[in-house]
Amino acid sequence: MEYSEKVLDHFMHPRNMGEISDATASGTVGNPICGDIMKMDLKIENNIIIDAKFKTFGCGSAIATSSMATELIIGKTTDEALDITNRAVAEALDGLPKVKMHCSVLAEQAVKKALEAYYLENDMMTPERQERFSILGKDEHSHTDLHGEEKS
Ligand code: FES
Repeated sequence: MEYSEKVLDHFMHPRNMGEISDATASGTVGNPICGDIMKMDLKIENNIIIDAKFKTFGCGSAIATSSMATELIIGKTTDEALDITNRAVAEALDGLPKVKMHCSVLAEQAVKKALEAYYLENDMMTPERQERFSILGKDEHSHTDLHGEEKS
């Protein structure tokens, strides 16, 4: 299996790994295929993502995609961040082996889970935005938490 240099770089030197103690919103998701877990913390001011940090209990591709996802969303508005798909993250890493594409879904879902929490908490959810969260599905292993308050 061939990994691009960017994938290896983000795996060996992940950007923005960790937690934000005063996160505006967080999302935790699980990959039903392999059981790996990812948590994404976002710091949002005036609808702009000013910081993002992740923790991934998972494979190298999940670590590399979450690292790249944080780089892509920092500085973006929350609505712009909704446009970042797992394919966009994988492309920014110069591609992932086909059998590892499912790992990139975790990063998109974790970002969206946190953004969903943000919109709901701030009464900003609209039908148009709601449609963008269909990737979250009804996975019972994922949950949303706000301001560090875990819900199960
Ligand atoms: S094998 Fe689980 S996210 Fe990659």
